[in-house]
Amino acid sequence: MIKKCLFPAAGYGTRFLPATKAMPKEMLPIVNKPLIQYGVEEAMEAGIYNMAIVTGRGKRALEDHFDISYELESQIKGTSKEKYLKDIRHILETCSFSYTRQMEMKGLGHAILCGEPLVGNEPFAVVLSDDLCDNAELGVLSQMCKIYEKYRCSIVAVEEVDMDEVSKYGVIAGRVMDENVFVVDNMIEKPSKDKAPSNLAIIGRYILTPDIFEILRHTQPGKNGEIQITDALLEQCKKGMVLAYKFKGVRYDCGSVDGFVQATDVFYEKFLKGEMH
Ligand code: G1P
Repeated sequence: MIKKCLFPAAGYGTRFLPATKAMPKEMLPIVNKPLIQYGVEEAMEAGIYNMAIVTGRGKRALEDHFDISYELESQIKGTSKEKYLKDIRHILETCSFSYTRQMEMKGLGHAILCGEPLVGNEPFAVVLSDDLCDNAELGVLSQMCKIYEKYRCSIVAVEEVDMDEVSKYGVIAGRVMDENVFVVDNMIEKPSKDKAPSNLAIIGRYILTPDIFEILRHTQPGKNGEIQITDALLEQCKKGMVLAYKFKGVRYDCGSVDGFVQATDVFYEKFLKGEMH
């Protein structure tokens, strides 16, 4: 039902400088795979095969990653190293990739609006690949797609965070509608601890209905002078319904050094056990 996944990937990754000076932050590897590839694999698991990537200047490595490298392929053909390209080859054979550039950094809402020509008039998923999710069973997008099939409205993934952390996130208030599902009635982008309506923080997984684009077109700059998806979703929830889903699994903030190192430890264990390729 959801066929496209949008990856806003134009940000500078300043928290990782100097590593991200010439390399997109989405290409930082957790063990042997770049962050964006984990996001693409999560989308594929949810049955989504059309990837729409909003890039920016200095992000060409993303396009090269999702393309054939003839020189490399011919160099390792028939050697024991060929197996290392198995997963990425499968991705290239199964998915389509389209790209557009966000020319000015005007916020996440603006980045999503830049993706409109790639997405068109249909519901779509959004993955912020710095948020790496680890799930024992279904991936977060698969879990959200199931909820979308039932309710057919925009959905944000949330998790409970410490009250001292709320100012890093979009925070929601809502009433319980189903197991781990809330109807959102308020949402604030990066509130101070005393203004936060709860400790349910939005993480980088969304399913959005396409009317969000019309709303984003007139959404005024909010927190930090940027066009915020949180503000557009608040308008959408006032006009109709937006759900928040407390997902099953663990999420690592790989845009921060601490989260990146934690994810590396956890995924390295999987790698040693042969659970990763
Ligand atoms: C963005 C969103 C925020 C959300 C967060 C999740 O913020 O604006 O609402 O909680 O992603 O990672 P950013 O981390 O890009 O500042």
